[in-house]
Amino acid sequence: MDLDNNGEQYTELLQAQAHVWNHIFNFINTMSLKCAVDLGIPDIIHNHGHPMTITELVAVLPINAVKAPFVHRLMRILVHSGFFTCQKLGKNNREDSYFLTHSSRLLLKNEPMSATPFLNAMLEPILTKPWYHLASWLQNDNNVNAFATKHGTTFWECASGEPKCSHFFNNAMASDSRLVSRVLIDNHRNVFEGLSSLVDVGGGTGTLANAVANAFPHLDCIVFDLPHVVAGLKGRKNLKYVAGDMFSEIPPADAVLLKWILHDWSDEECLKILERCKEAIKKNGKGTGKVIIVDMVRKDEGDEESIETQLFFDMLMMVVTTGKERNEEELAKLFSEAGFSGYKLLPILGVRSLIEVYP
Ligand SMILES: C[S@@+](CC[C@H](N)C(=O)[O-])C[C@H]1O[C@@H](n2cnc3c(N)ncnc32)[C@H](O)[C@@H]1O
Repeated sequence: MDLDNNGEQYTELLQAQAHVWNHIFNFINTMSLKCAVDLGIPDIIHNHGHPMTITELVAVLPINAVKAPFVHRLMRILVHSGFFTCQKLGKNNREDSYFLTHSSRLLLKNEPMSATPFLNAMLEPILTKPWYHLASWLQNDNNVNAFATKHGTTFWECASGEPKCSHFFNNAMASDSRLVSRVLIDNHRNVFEGLSSLVDVGGGTGTLANAVANAFPHLDCIVFDLPHVVAGLKGRKNLKYVAGDMFSEIPPADAVLLKWILHDWSDEECLKILERCKEAIKKNGKGTGKVIIVDMVRKDEGDEESIETQLFFDMLMMVVTTGKERNEEELAKLFSEAGFSGYKLLPILGVRSLIEVYP
């Protein structure tokens, strides 16, 4: 940058410095949120039953009493990032008092759809350390991703070999599936109507399939996942757990559900999965059926936070899996190459969409 003694250029330079600092310290939003969740702040404010003054909050927080004067600074950044709101209440209406927002409600530990297991899993060092190896992965090695560069194994191998890894990951997925299943069953029942069988491929520990099996007692549901994921899980009348490999064979059903599956895999791998899905639908012998996909459809325009969230996920897929977040054109190409005749895209799940793909 050519700098002479020009006031305008210095203004730009100082703005650039602030921008650089903001991005260097983006992780402080993340870690402040994790700290609040570790200390149980959303639950404490929720259980208090009404807005909580800073005095009331520090009195019950599980912290060393000498640290009390620091807490309002943690709360200040969390108000700024939208996890709490703050008003002056209490003594003479002069005390900072905190309210939950929709985002902190979603982090309550006993909230059935709590995102806390997802936060805890994504911030496990096993998933954050590979980021320090992204540049060297791009420069040097033949590993499939930076996760493998750091750990010497793929994430899926790690999950099958280390119960701790499998446990935190499956819990994270289950917490998300509790929310998605509520939205689908309460607002979009027609997705499942008319089906007599459904296989949830890569269905984890079965949260979504369980919810669907409860809501549709005449629909036979199968949770299909790797052996270590479904080992020991017991089915019931219209829900069965089946162990297997989706690249080899998928159990036959009217509909195949792929929630957060395609984004984990490369185009070549997705084609194989989609071909197995098509075979599974064909084997039901009805000549009808569909694949139901829950995934992101990457957009380049829209609200800034949604675009950034999709870009974060795309980078996460690059670092941890062989997949990516695809735009509609990329997904449509995959569906057509796998031999499907058409699809319907419904942007009904926030930054994700529901896509029905027809044979
Ligand atoms: C991102 S998780 C999604 C879990 C679940 N569908 C959800 O959204 O809550 C991907 C799932 O695919 C499973 N998986 C990975 N490789 C698989 C394979 N070859 N065959 C079957 N399932 C597989 C994983 O064990 C994991 O449960």
